[in-house]
Amino acid sequence: MRCFKQTTLRRWGRMLAAVALLAGCAATQSPATLYERLGGLPAITALVDKSVDRHVADPRTHHTFDGINLKALKASIVSQVCNASGGPCKYEGATMIEAHRELAITPLQFDVVIGHIRASLDELHVGAREQQELLQIILPMKPDIVGH
Ligand code: HEM
Repeated sequence: MRCFKQTTLRRWGRMLAAVALLAGCAATQSPATLYERLGGLPAITALVDKSVDRHVADPRTHHTFDGINLKALKASIVSQVCNASGGPCKYEGATMIEAHRELAITPLQFDVVIGHIRASLDELHVGAREQQELLQIILPMKPDIVGH
């Protein structure tokens, strides 16, 4: 009887240790960053490509991009989004106030650009949660971008 009890106790002890170990592992695993959930650099590059192409094609915004080096602009926005979403990139471009100061961007143009970003996110089948998180990063930039 005594022997049986000791074996049972040992078994329970081992089970508890295993549960504690698994719980510990789950607690130390950090959740995937927005950057990872978006699909990393290839997905962010595709998103920026599509969005900027839409800005350039849209008669409500295209004149603002006249004479702009689009390749450099896209690369800069990719590094900004990569950095802001928790990715490994360093953003070395201008602040949003500096970059848009001379462009006299209207609130309507800002909303048009947001519409282009949303359409590109949909086209690339980005999930609703990731879309929302990305827009929560971009939308607060409006006061820095509009009307300087
Ligand atoms: C929606 C949020 C926006 C974000 C996150 C954003 C982001 C950026 C970034 C990162 C740059 C590059 C800065 C640098 O490399 O130094 C830039 C430049 C630029 N942005 Fe935006 N932008 C936004 C809205 C807009 C809007 C609404 C327009 C016009 C309709 C616009 C037009 C431009 C132009 C033309 C440049 C190039 C400026 C230059 O090279 O002189 N942006 N933007």
